[in-house]
Amino acid sequence: MAGTDYSSYLRIDELLDLQHPLTVGAHDEMLFVVIHQAYELWFKVILHELDFATAELLAGRPQGAMAPLHRTTRVDELLIAQLRVLETLTPEGFLEFRDPLKPASGLQSGQFRAIEVLGGFDGTTPADASPLSDHDRAELRRRSGAPTLFSALCAALRAQGFDAPDGDGIELRDRRVEALVSVYRDHVSPERAALHRVCELLLDHDEAISRWRFHHALMAAREIGSRPGTGGGGVAYLDTTITLRFFPELWEVRNRL
Ligand code: HEM
Repeated sequence: MAGTDYSSYLRIDELLDLQHPLTVGAHDEMLFVVIHQAYELWFKVILHELDFATAELLAGRPQGAMAPLHRTTRVDELLIAQLRVLETLTPEGFLEFRDPLKPASGLQSGQFRAIEVLGGFDGTTPADASPLSDHDRAELRRRSGAPTLFSALCAALRAQGFDAPDGDGIELRDRRVEALVSVYRDHVSPERAALHRVCELLLDHDEAISRWRFHHALMAAREIGSRPGTGGGGVAYLDTTITLRFFPELWEVRNRL
């Protein structure tokens, strides 16, 4: 019979052969490995969707960006929900296998940094963190030269005649925010409705990643208190990331309506 079967199509044997806890007898390490791998798979889906949304916006098709952004926001919620599973790990259970992991840390997740780069960040990790792999560094360099989600949104705004210029500086920023305010004040036509929906989906994504940052910091405090993290930053570093926002101009709109 032609075709394939479940196991070969999904490479289940290879997938289930990728979990290698380091400490013999540490029961909880299996969860720790699997949950990180699951995050990286979901990061892969998020990047796949956000790249597609960015391309649609750059092509002046906000309508086409809606489905991938919507899916992204659903996956974002899974990222947050997974933290509750991780919180079944007790601090003493974590200590059973933690030391051999050093200096491995989520700080070295290239895909997390790529999500940040699409959100407009520069993709750097704290200066004293262990370096990313060569592959991750090359990928981040490639992404850093490409349009971000917000610059793609501005391109979609310009395609519909709005004054939403790229560039730094207060004056250019002000013109962009005013263009967004205009979309928020009036989004009755299908064209404006699509732009408005995209703005709100981007804000959903931004808010969800911030909630993840906050919850991840709480989870980390629960596991390790104020000890240094395996990557050296600790919860004190995570606390500095909680107020970060991808799209400050979409938040600024709220002040001007
Ligand atoms: C017991 C579980 C975990 C603990 C105690 C923990 C703790 C920490 C700490 C303390 C940091 C700051 C850097 C450092 O000192 O190493 C960090 C960073 C990070 N962790 Fe976790 N983490 C855990 C699980 C996870 C999981 C499952 C993920 C999913 C991928 C993750 C993703 C990240 C990311 C992306 C960063 C960098 C955040 C940023 O730079 O803004 N962590 N983690």
